[in-house]
Amino acid sequence: MQNLSDVLASSSTPEKLKAVLTVTTETCIAISDALKQGSLAGILGMAGNENVQGEEQKKLDVISNDMLKDALFACPAVRAIASEEEDYIVPANTDGEYFIAFDPLDGSSNIDINAMVGTIFSIYHQTGNSPAVEADFLIPGKEQVAAGYVLYGPSTMLVLTTGNGVNMFTYDPTKQIFTLTNENIQVPEETQEFAINMSNQRFWSDSIQSYINELIKGKDGSRDKDFNMRWVAAMVGDVHRILCRGGIFLYPWDNKDPAKPGKLRLMYEANPMAMLLEQAGGKAHTHTQRILDIQPEAIHQRVAVVLGAANEVDKCLSY
Ligand code: F6P
Ligand code: MN
Repeated sequence: MQNLSDVLASSSTPEKLKAVLTVTTETCIAISDALKQGSLAGILGMAGNENVQGEEQKKLDVISNDMLKDALFACPAVRAIASEEEDYIVPANTDGEYFIAFDPLDGSSNIDINAMVGTIFSIYHQTGNSPAVEADFLIPGKEQVAAGYVLYGPSTMLVLTTGNGVNMFTYDPTKQIFTLTNENIQVPEETQEFAINMSNQRFWSDSIQSYINELIKGKDGSRDKDFNMRWVAAMVGDVHRILCRGGIFLYPWDNKDPAKPGKLRLMYEANPMAMLLEQAGGKAHTHTQRILDIQPEAIHQRVAVVLGAANEVDKCLSY
């Protein structure tokens, strides 16, 4: 069976990008090990501070952020990082060539209940003669050279694209390597499964209300088929289900806070997942445009997200 380094070696992935991917994925193995220790290591619970989004940080948000930051800083190919848990981009090596944006622990409210969480990452090629500044990294998602996530579930899995399809790897703790277990993932165009936080229903736009109402009516409505609903409450888990068996995931704009265009963050949640979905034959849009075409205006920018089965995303957008 092939492992991650075999797959990277047999692809045209540049050496320095391989180095960045190796550091990132090895650090995720260390995060996975820390998560397995849970309460035993005294790492659960709150850190006692807030991130730039005004969300309370968990100890494990901070620990996983520091682990990734330290490891990536030690990698000469890394020019700068951006993280959900860092207010600003952090320049690393001026002559590094890659910029990595990451959500160190997505779905961290799941930690307390021993449910799925993950690390999401997005990588761009970016060079310059002076230390990186935020403006250097406001690059549309279509320029990503690699994107993926490591899911910490019953197994630890790496899902990766370098722009040539999507591969899934399962972590083998006996060998301490990621082994290729699902090659060239494809998301079916049609689906009967959706994911949305229904408790926000009254805050959605009329069009999202109408679309979801038709899914719920199932065979009794215009869709002529019944739909199932799933909500992991960690984007990484919901996207993983879609890559495994199809579906549609929505975190639409809502008027709970009209100033915010959505809950999810463009640079380290929506963009990497959008690249994975498109590479797997699916689609990823806001209510108005393809996510990968968005010109970012800020590192922590939020967006509305509709992603998954191509025909179902089109159907949703037709509302
Ligand atoms: O990172 C934000 C996030 O935790 C996503 O992983 C997840 O999809 C969403 O928020 C869950 O939001 P809610 O609190 O509405 O269930
Ligand atoms: Mn997140």
